[in-house]
Amino acid sequence: MALKITVIGTGYLGATHAAAMAELGFEVLGLDVVPEKIEMLKRGEVPMYEPGLEELLRKHVAGIEGSSGRLRFTMDWAEVGEFGDVHFVCVNTPQKHGEYACDMSYVDAAFESLAPHLHGPALVVGKSTVPVGSADRLAARLVELAPAGEDAELAWNPEFLREGFAVNDTLHPDRIVVGVRSERAEKLLREVYATPVTAGSPFVVTDFPTAELVKTSANSFLATKISFINAMAEVCEAADGDVVKLAEAIGHDERIGKKFLRAGIGFGGGCLPKDIRAFMARAGELGADQALTFLREIDSINMRQRGQMVELAREALGGGSFLGKRVAVLGAAFKPDSDDVRDSPALNVAGQIHLQGGQVTVYDPKGMANARRLFPTLAYADSAIEAVRGADVVLHLTEWREFRELDPAVLGEAVTTRLILDGRNALDPEVWRRAGWTYRAMGRPTA
Ligand code: UDX
Repeated sequence: MALKITVIGTGYLGATHAAAMAELGFEVLGLDVVPEKIEMLKRGEVPMYEPGLEELLRKHVAGIEGSSGRLRFTMDWAEVGEFGDVHFVCVNTPQKHGEYACDMSYVDAAFESLAPHLHGPALVVGKSTVPVGSADRLAARLVELAPAGEDAELAWNPEFLREGFAVNDTLHPDRIVVGVRSERAEKLLREVYATPVTAGSPFVVTDFPTAELVKTSANSFLATKISFINAMAEVCEAADGDVVKLAEAIGHDERIGKKFLRAGIGFGGGCLPKDIRAFMARAGELGADQALTFLREIDSINMRQRGQMVELAREALGGGSFLGKRVAVLGAAFKPDSDDVRDSPALNVAGQIHLQGGQVTVYDPKGMANARRLFPTLAYADSAIEAVRGADVVLHLTEWREFRELDPAVLGEAVTTRLILDGRNALDPEVWRRAGWTYRAMGRPTA
């Protein structure tokens, strides 16, 4: 009999994981505590913008014409406990208000709600990003609360999906990491991931703490790479060098690699910033804080980029104040192909300039609704051309393909001054300069 799978929490991670499990052939039941989310998912609608996810959901959600019917949603914990052989916990772990540590309340609540409904053998698999040591604690709690006792077992299986590539990253993961305490748990997870493993995804078996640490250390490494190149951009800026060429040149060294070396206004989103902070906080609790003090610098280099973008804009506008200046902002999402504006560097820059008296108009291909909710006082336009109309300066802050394909000549007709600042080093300076624009980017020579 094929395994039955449940997925608890249906955000980016959970909704994608649930659809992917159905795609792999399993019967899947998803649960969320937010009724609106469940209602949407039951109709095959996705509560966020993620390329390919809606199609995958609609292919499997029961009740949709032509679907496999393998994917259902519920809010009933008893039904979930009854249904699943393997339960994936995919709830989020945001940063605690006023602290670096991560907020475990959703994870804890999921375990407290699920465990009392586990009457027979079950494997609960944590996927959320948690402080190291959590799995150990949760495993004990599970045995305590579950009527099945020791037959309710825990495994930890961190998730590495990137927003914008969530479907592909879930169906074809570059590695599968499982923290387990028994052969039974490993066997079950090998069964769950048989398809990607056969297709070549490495399957790495570890203990609990290592599995938890793989996730936070991977994100710390990525954050470090970005802040490294942004630090180089600062030096290039001072020395009149070109950080884009520098990144290209060092990237030819295979040990360094080309990826994740795009200098600009830095990283944001729901993961990297809060994960490195939670990692520092946890290391402090463990008495290993010295090992991670460098992450403090990574964080501060990253946050500094946003302020530097504001200063670059001020300088480009002649120095003084932003009062009365019209500033067009292209991009609100924390990265392209996503509508996620959580800790978005683009919105942060837009907000800072707005608070200093600039008249800021923002356009983003997908992030408008979320941006409006977070920053209702900014002005929003329905297209790039509308956003730049009358602008004294244009700020390119999220590198959507749509923005790379803009015609500088057409935009040039709409603005007051042909002045563009590329906060993502993603536009071609030559193309813009040829069309009569002044093009500036962080860490690149002026002309
Ligand atoms: C990240 C990890 O990549 C993923 O493995 C993990 O599971 C969750 O966190 P995500 O937050 O979706 O994924 O975004 P990612 O593509 O990693 O980008 C993070 C941020 O870094 C974005 O704001 C992006 O604009 C920025 N970035 C990325 C750069 O500034 N420069 C780069 O070269 C690459």
